[in-house]
Amino acid sequence: MQPAAFVFDAYGTLFDVHSAAARHADALGEKWVALSELWRTKQLEYTWVRALAGKHCSFWKVTKDGLDYAIASVGGIDSGLRGELLASYRQLAAYPEVPECLKALKARGSAVAILSNGDPDMLADAVNSAGLADAFDAVLSVEDAGVYKPSHRVYQLATARFGVVPQAVSFQSSNRWDIAGAKSFGFRTVWINRTGRPDEYLDLAADEVLKDLTGLLT
Ligand code: 2OP
Repeated sequence: MQPAAFVFDAYGTLFDVHSAAARHADALGEKWVALSELWRTKQLEYTWVRALAGKHCSFWKVTKDGLDYAIASVGGIDSGLRGELLASYRQLAAYPEVPECLKALKARGSAVAILSNGDPDMLADAVNSAGLADAFDAVLSVEDAGVYKPSHRVYQLATARFGVVPQAVSFQSSNRWDIAGAKSFGFRTVWINRTGRPDEYLDLAADEVLKDLTGLLT
């Protein structure tokens, strides 16, 4: 049966978080990969610490803080690049199959939405710069819950928006920890394992594992 709603994580699932640093690979040199990985790792770490400590802040702040840590850790990064890297983060590349897959899902009658840690303005920039302004029935930010994933208060934003039970939602994320949280909430979960990573959180198993979004259309 077609899910009532296909709900997507944004960063890492629809948008390539490493496309920001990749755009500046010439200026950064081969260290751009280490910088980008550490940037993402610290950005996420900060969301989990703040969620558990009850010290919420914007995703833009943890994105800036994560970059600042990565720049300090990697070293030798031209100070002018910070602003360019942050500007690029607001216009991340969508993965190639995303536009057509979202369009096909909507054509089948399901609602299509984003549910993301991103601030509303960050998500608007990402959606608009990727040409996806008409792709979604809703773009949901954790800002409406005041806490980061994997708090159930975040996943409840989707069931409340569409007036459905968790099992009626197909939730897609490339972030396995996000899938674990969504599974514990009751969504049907699809792990988009783009880079062939080993599975984890085995007691909170994904209902399906795909390498990209095209598998949603079979
Ligand atoms: C998102 O919420 C987990 O950062 C990822 O879009």
